[in-house]
Amino acid sequence: MAEKLIIFDTTLRDGEQSPGASMTRDEKLRIARQLERLKVDVIEAGFPASSNGDFECVQAIANVIKESTVCGLSRANDRDIARAAEALRPAARARIHTFIATSALHMEKKLRMTPDQVFEQARLSVRFARNLVGDVEFSPEDGYRSDVDFLCRVLEAAISEGATTINVPDTVGYAIPELYGNFIRTLRERIPNSDKAVWSVHCHNDLGMAVANSLAGVKIGGARQVECTINGLGERAGNCSLEEIVMAVKTRKDYFGLEVGVDARHILATSRMVSQTTGFVIQPNKAVVGANAFAHASGIHQDGVLKARDTYEIMRAEDVGWTNNKIVLGKLSGRNAFKQRLQELGVAMDSEADINTAFARFKELADRKSDIFDEDILALVSDESIARDHEKYMFISLAQHSETGERPQATVVFTAQGKEVTGESDGNGPVDASLKAIETHVKSGAEMVLYSVNAISGSTESQGEVTIRLQNSGRVVNGVGADPDIVVASAKAYLNALNKLQSKSDAVAAQG
Ligand code: KIV
Ligand code: ZN
Repeated sequence: MAEKLIIFDTTLRDGEQSPGASMTRDEKLRIARQLERLKVDVIEAGFPASSNGDFECVQAIANVIKESTVCGLSRANDRDIARAAEALRPAARARIHTFIATSALHMEKKLRMTPDQVFEQARLSVRFARNLVGDVEFSPEDGYRSDVDFLCRVLEAAISEGATTINVPDTVGYAIPELYGNFIRTLRERIPNSDKAVWSVHCHNDLGMAVANSLAGVKIGGARQVECTINGLGERAGNCSLEEIVMAVKTRKDYFGLEVGVDARHILATSRMVSQTTGFVIQPNKAVVGANAFAHASGIHQDGVLKARDTYEIMRAEDVGWTNNKIVLGKLSGRNAFKQRLQELGVAMDSEADINTAFARFKELADRKSDIFDEDILALVSDESIARDHEKYMFISLAQHSETGERPQATVVFTAQGKEVTGESDGNGPVDASLKAIETHVKSGAEMVLYSVNAISGSTESQGEVTIRLQNSGRVVNGVGADPDIVVASAKAYLNALNKLQSKSDAVAAQG
């Protein structure tokens, strides 16, 4: 039997730290269920001590996830650890992940602690966590830039106190594959009790090497857990991408010789769910999940693939969930077919009433668009959950007039705290006019830092999916909206972003 490589997904924790990627409780629950369907081993659900909202998300996820281990992050102090343990109490399998920085730079400038103080705090924190749960992970933050002697001392103590996993983060994405692999190997060789813990890698992508570094940590260093996120979502240039790690280890089993429990057929649906929820669009040439990942444009390649698939393909598109863009539902599809497709896509609806609302939206869409694809359904239900979660502003209708040589005019009707309001404005284009029409009422003062439109299923017949990133008082949010009319999609995305800004400021106010 080949050894197992543990896949630890941190989309809902490290991924969410990406500016604008914050998710609501319902969105996180939906993604957690999808991660379980994907059969990831560990889901890092959040950082319970960071806010009441995060605590509730971790608790809600711990309540519903049965197969994967649910993990909560905590700084290395008793208060954070106790809070994580409390949030994780309902979990079938719970893990506390506690961390403290160990590099000279972080200890001196950020923590203002001496190495001895950090050593002691790491040791006592692991001890405290182990008294609360049996599965404890310890991370020396900025571990890769830490002094190796000091790191050996800290990690040996963490293992002695009962840490079951030791994770070595390359927090700032500074590593080079061979060096990082050797670093992990050195730690494992020098620490006398290293065989008592599973070794884990956690790489950031600042130099574009997060996946390569993680694989080197596995191959050279002997790590048996990889921490990663869907689509490589994460702060700055992101984290190691789950889909790339999983497919590298599966496709090159001849080289790595390891088993991965992930059911790769759900990779694409998970990737799209995360992209549509966060508004982080996937670049077309992204490995495994990009629109072009399996597209052959050149005549020579097409000819080769038609004659023998493996001339130019090392993986089968269907093995990671590509379905030939097949039409899944249409105008005549019934409620049962719709409900079944939702289940296949891993979308859990809380009640029959929610299914009815989503089905009514589906019928409305099917009247306007002949073929409905999986992407349409995912966009539709993400709209649905957005509407349930943040109801301060909800789109009702839009009318706009644009003509060559004339300044476009738009009228947008929406609800603001349950009251119907109408905004009118002109603008440089129909989208600009529509968003200005909304602002005549909202007066948010927010600055738009990103606007992007994407055709959900690739043609002009498809729905447009718009992402809008707004920034206000240091807060950044992404709003997403989908509709066959991209002006309407833009208005929906704008209202969605305003709702998120609003709910973030409510959360900040609630924390005092
Ligand atoms: O990058 C990092 O150091 C982290 C730790 C909290 C594990 O995310
Ligand atoms: Zn990280």
